[in-house]
Amino acid sequence: MRLGLSSASWQAQRAKKDRNQFKRLIAGRCPARPGSKTRSHTILAILTLQRARWIIHTVSDSTAGQNSPRSAVFRRSFRKTFPSAVRGEGVYLWDTEGKRYLDFSGSAAVNLIGHGTPEIAAAMTEQATQLEFVHTSQFTTPVAEDYARELLEFAGENFRGGAVYFTCGGSESVETALKLARQYQVEIGQTWRYQVLSRTQSYHGSTLGALSVSGNKRRREIYLPMVREFAHVGIPYCYRCAYDCTDGCRNCGQEYAAELERAIEAANGEAAAFIFEPVSGATLGAVVPPPGYLQTVTEVCRRHGVLVIADEVMTGMGRTGRNFAVEHWDVAPDILIAAKGLSSGYAPLGAVIATKEVVDGIVSGSFLHGFTYNAHPVSLAAGRAVLHRLQQRRLVQASDSGREGSVAAKLERSLSTLLDLKTVGEVRGIGLLRGVEFVSDKQSKKPFAPDLNFAGRVTSAALKRSLLVYPIQGCVDGVSGDHLLIAPPAVITAEQIDWAIQQLRDSIEEAGAQ
Ligand SMILES: Cc1ncc(COP(=O)(O)O)c(C=O)c1O
Repeated sequence: MRLGLSSASWQAQRAKKDRNQFKRLIAGRCPARPGSKTRSHTILAILTLQRARWIIHTVSDSTAGQNSPRSAVFRRSFRKTFPSAVRGEGVYLWDTEGKRYLDFSGSAAVNLIGHGTPEIAAAMTEQATQLEFVHTSQFTTPVAEDYARELLEFAGENFRGGAVYFTCGGSESVETALKLARQYQVEIGQTWRYQVLSRTQSYHGSTLGALSVSGNKRRREIYLPMVREFAHVGIPYCYRCAYDCTDGCRNCGQEYAAELERAIEAANGEAAAFIFEPVSGATLGAVVPPPGYLQTVTEVCRRHGVLVIADEVMTGMGRTGRNFAVEHWDVAPDILIAAKGLSSGYAPLGAVIATKEVVDGIVSGSFLHGFTYNAHPVSLAAGRAVLHRLQQRRLVQASDSGREGSVAAKLERSLSTLLDLKTVGEVRGIGLLRGVEFVSDKQSKKPFAPDLNFAGRVTSAALKRSLLVYPIQGCVDGVSGDHLLIAPPAVITAEQIDWAIQQLRDSIEEAGAQ
């Protein structure tokens, strides 16, 4: 709210003001701003501003309600009421009103082991009681050393002899990986390498460095003047293949890999690294790469001396039915990034796992990077207890949709029943990371108009039915296209999946009828 206006009327007034200013410019009555070379620059700026406001309006809140309560908390949206959560157990969350929700998206693909696990709280308490914090410039800790060894083992043979850099989450880990790639190149004598190539329609985090390698148009557009831009190459998205293939991208995966090779060549030897999500997370909604694509991409990078960074913030720690998703395709990255499932949400935690070769490359002996809360003992105690829990309970196996009898196989079968709905264009994904894409016309795959906010409508309808899903817009071209991300904790049961699918079906039908 501004000066007592509701957010909606403030938005309307600003839009009117923009339109009037634009009309005056067109009519030549408004001088160009000092410093801008031409009037067309100013016109462009205003158009950008209008578009930015529209983006902020739609991105910041895809499930906005009518009321606009203010709070002392700087919330994600000022236009929406949020239930206040007080308790979690298994796949359920409860709010202050006593309403119970089934968490069908693991919040935002965070929780794999289930909510409210007492063992994790106990491990955190024990650590906090013994030692709450030390600075990594002064101490290491037993919990950091033990956990790093266990994580390297969990990450597999490729990381034997490597090392783990602990952070507080995904974006911090991405920043760390980008800087590590740059410092590695400098230290091995390739001082001219600094560019990090990435893919369109990707998401690597919300800090400025992470945004510069992200392709998520809606989340980055207004910040573009502040970020360093490197090349973004195409991403295989078979439902809407840019090469119009009909074979599930079996061959055109190679075309996409060739795009990367051309971009590396165009970078004139300045490419330091390539970052990618093995399975596309939020931006495209669980798009699985075609066979052969990731292997070729890795080969291309190796041939050109470009480090391979696999961003497994969403896909790592068992979510897709392997410890890390790259294992599905036998790909060996130089740097692996984990967060979200690493602590399953019990504490802010991220990790950058580097191979022995990368660590050995830092011949100066110190990484020029750091955060105060690196390797926070209480977060590490949570992460370590989560790792033990997911191993003891065989939750990676439960998340493997290729495994008969797993909950992931059940989820895959159950979600596919939604394909008979006229607004469901595709159901996709792997393991316990699934996407449901909506279309207004199945034949032509035409998306809904972005203003309709179809995914947000489905989410609101689901919320009424006590079901939590994760809505996203922009899968088609960065602006249009609606999908949901479905990523439940691996402790979900077959009966809970049946119930959730029925609620989701009813919610999609309700949104389609509006
Ligand atoms: C693939 C990927 N990388 C990075 C991030 C950023 O992680 P965080 O939100 O923990 O900073 C996300 C968040 O959704 C993600 O999905």
